[in-house]
Amino acid sequence: MLRPWKVSLREQISAARDIPIYLQITQALIRDIESGRLPSGTFLPSSRELATALSVNRKTVVLAYEDLISQGWLSSESTRGTMISSLLPGSARRDNPPPEIEQPSGADYRFEAGPARPLAIPDGKGLKLDEGTPDGRLLPPDLLARAYRAAIQRASRANRLQYRDPRGAETLRAAIATMLSSERGLRVTPRNICITRGSQNGIFLAAQILLRPGNAVAVEELTYEPAVAAFRACGAEVVTVRLDREGIDVGDLEQLCRRHPVRAVFLTPHHQFPTTVSLRPERRLRVLDLARQFGFAVIEDDYDHEFHFDSQPLLPMAAYAPAQVIYVGSLSKLLLPALRIGYIAAPEEVIDAIAHRVSLTDGMGNTLTEEAAAELIENGELRRHARKVRQIYADRRQVFADALAEEVGEIADYAVPDGGLAFWVRFLRPGDLARIEAHAPDMGLRFASSRSFTSKPETESGLRFGFASLTSHEARHALRTIRKAAG
Ligand SMILES: Cc1ncc(COP(=O)(O)O)c(C=O)c1O
Repeated sequence: MLRPWKVSLREQISAARDIPIYLQITQALIRDIESGRLPSGTFLPSSRELATALSVNRKTVVLAYEDLISQGWLSSESTRGTMISSLLPGSARRDNPPPEIEQPSGADYRFEAGPARPLAIPDGKGLKLDEGTPDGRLLPPDLLARAYRAAIQRASRANRLQYRDPRGAETLRAAIATMLSSERGLRVTPRNICITRGSQNGIFLAAQILLRPGNAVAVEELTYEPAVAAFRACGAEVVTVRLDREGIDVGDLEQLCRRHPVRAVFLTPHHQFPTTVSLRPERRLRVLDLARQFGFAVIEDDYDHEFHFDSQPLLPMAAYAPAQVIYVGSLSKLLLPALRIGYIAAPEEVIDAIAHRVSLTDGMGNTLTEEAAAELIENGELRRHARKVRQIYADRRQVFADALAEEVGEIADYAVPDGGLAFWVRFLRPGDLARIEAHAPDMGLRFASSRSFTSKPETESGLRFGFASLTSHEARHALRTIRKAAG
């Protein structure tokens, strides 16, 4: 008859798993030693006996035993056989072996849990109405594969695949600096650029160098929740500023600064998140005057700069106030979110401080992807791709606007956005928003909660509907569902 621990061992070994059998035996024995089921000093069966009990080849058990002996878990006692090393410490847990196989059920140590995140778009089946993400299907995988291939060859030949500058790959910093100065009016050189893992990482890094626990950061009452979460993670106090149909209420910001020392103001001036409005020049200039007067930094999140449809994109605030603004950009919307390429443009000493933070967290970023992104910029493919998708998204914006008018025109208030990849929709009849949020998921539609856009719980909210990732059929279907859910 098999002894109980042999039974437990047998239950843990399966040829169907993707792990070599000898490694499964090794891991199972370590688990049993660690849990106390096999106390130190216990003799194990001979390799032949165990092989028979487990229905495996004897050599497999010999390999596992040898491995465990060389790691110090087992010792070979010449003629007496193989035993659990007597050098292993005992513990309360080992003195009281658990009666059954223990499943990992969580950590035994204290840690600071993250907040529950009911606000992200829920996982699950059905059509997803995102908040304005690109259609990844439009980027040919071969284009990306070729860029990686060329970049790896180039970087490898030049021995650039080593531990490197935390500001990111020099090739990409140079390409981004050229793009920002030639297309967006920023007066920058590569020394003013730090590559980040998307703009979210850029916002967090900016927060890290600007905010100490207790410092105030101002955000609009409707804003980008992950940025607020990043500020809170730095211990900052998040204070809200009113917002109207033209963007941030600068008078309210001024009042706030008079009452409260504000260290930073977070803005998405090109396409306000979530309302999509572009901040008019007079308000931009007033914000910058306040920045000079009260000494706060503006974190300018220009997350989807490339998509502006009826006119040229507006120049970023960083183009005319480089000493007041930390500029954060990204390739997520133009290429793919999965690349995780973003960038910060700021004065050199600010970039040095940010680079120090990078070196503390991931050392230096992802050189391979950065080199590939530089390749796409240098060989002109990024520009060609931008031209192509801009046209497709302009068409989809029109299709979405038509579908909105037809399906929810009577019950919704919205404007066709000048730019960005989403519409901001408010519902006119009391109770519609609540009904839509309650019923649409059961009707196969997923979208971010209206609460995810509010930095103050009582703020009246709406829904943000991305149009770029949907075909016309999907868009119409989604909006018809919204209408039905409203009742
Ligand atoms: C306003 C805004 N900021 C930042 C981000 C983060 O984008 P990423 O980190 O992929 O660049 C997003 C993503 O949707 C966004 O909407």
